[in-house]
Amino acid sequence: MGSWLEGKTLANKIKEEVKDEVASYLKTIGQVPGLVGIRVGEDRASKVYLRTKERACEKLGIHSEILNFPEDISVSLLKSKIEQLSSREDVDGILIQLPLPSSFDSHEIITSMPPEKDVDGFHPFNLGNLLLKKDGVKPCTPLGIIELLKFRDISIEGKRVVIIGRSIMVGKPLAAMMTNENGTVTTCHTRTKNLPQVASEADILVAAIGRGTFITPEFVKPGAVVIDVGIDSLSDKSKVEELFGKDKKRQEDLEKKGYTIIGDVHPQVIEKAEYLTPVPGGVGLLTVAMLMKNTLEAFKRRRDL
Ligand code: GUN
Repeated sequence: MGSWLEGKTLANKIKEEVKDEVASYLKTIGQVPGLVGIRVGEDRASKVYLRTKERACEKLGIHSEILNFPEDISVSLLKSKIEQLSSREDVDGILIQLPLPSSFDSHEIITSMPPEKDVDGFHPFNLGNLLLKKDGVKPCTPLGIIELLKFRDISIEGKRVVIIGRSIMVGKPLAAMMTNENGTVTTCHTRTKNLPQVASEADILVAAIGRGTFITPEFVKPGAVVIDVGIDSLSDKSKVEELFGKDKKRQEDLEKKGYTIIGDVHPQVIEKAEYLTPVPGGVGLLTVAMLMKNTLEAFKRRRDL
């Protein structure tokens, strides 16, 4: 039986450090970091994520604004709004919540901001620096995963790392970071053959596909460290009971919200793995903490602090 590898302790530690530093800059130079989140359209998950990020900013003393644009905003108008934010002195970070509606090319939109304000680390300049192992902004979720492993003294060097998912937000940057940490990395995706067999060779298995409970024990080597990045929702009461028994929190979720949040990894995996990150309460908490840290770092870099 393995242990849950929770994100809370490290996320709180990082946020406390950011909060203290923000307060000290307010005292010494009278300025605090500023973050602007952009949402296009009415994606429900994006609304929730941005609200979570806004609340974290409030708690840490970071100034935040959320801009909502209609789905039919023109590309040129959206880009000109981003350019306005790019030239604002009080804006240190710009975050374009993804996914954008399908009519937009997210690469084109992300590239319209300056790399030093790209607190998500998705700008090609920042992704290029990551491949080159040079300083730059690193994507929050992969950064959170690496920091969590280090915090818990789980070494990456020489380990077989299998990442399921090749997105620009998680899979690809995480593969680069794990390689930079001297892991031996395999990236899997929808076209991978014999996925359970490849996954079960991993000492560190990362699931980032967004398909609830897809990763069952047959994907997992006994004693592996399993990192669950997936977020899916489940509203079927009998399925929730089948997965979590009479878990009080899950029952409450169903009653209050009509659904509960689940990850890519089946809860039975805890019986085979050494560690498994919970969903919620794992990697997601670190994503937000790292965004706060990236925003503070952007603020400091722009002022040579
Ligand atoms: N959508 C899901 N995760 C993320 C994230 O980390 N950053 C942005 N910008 N959009 C997301």
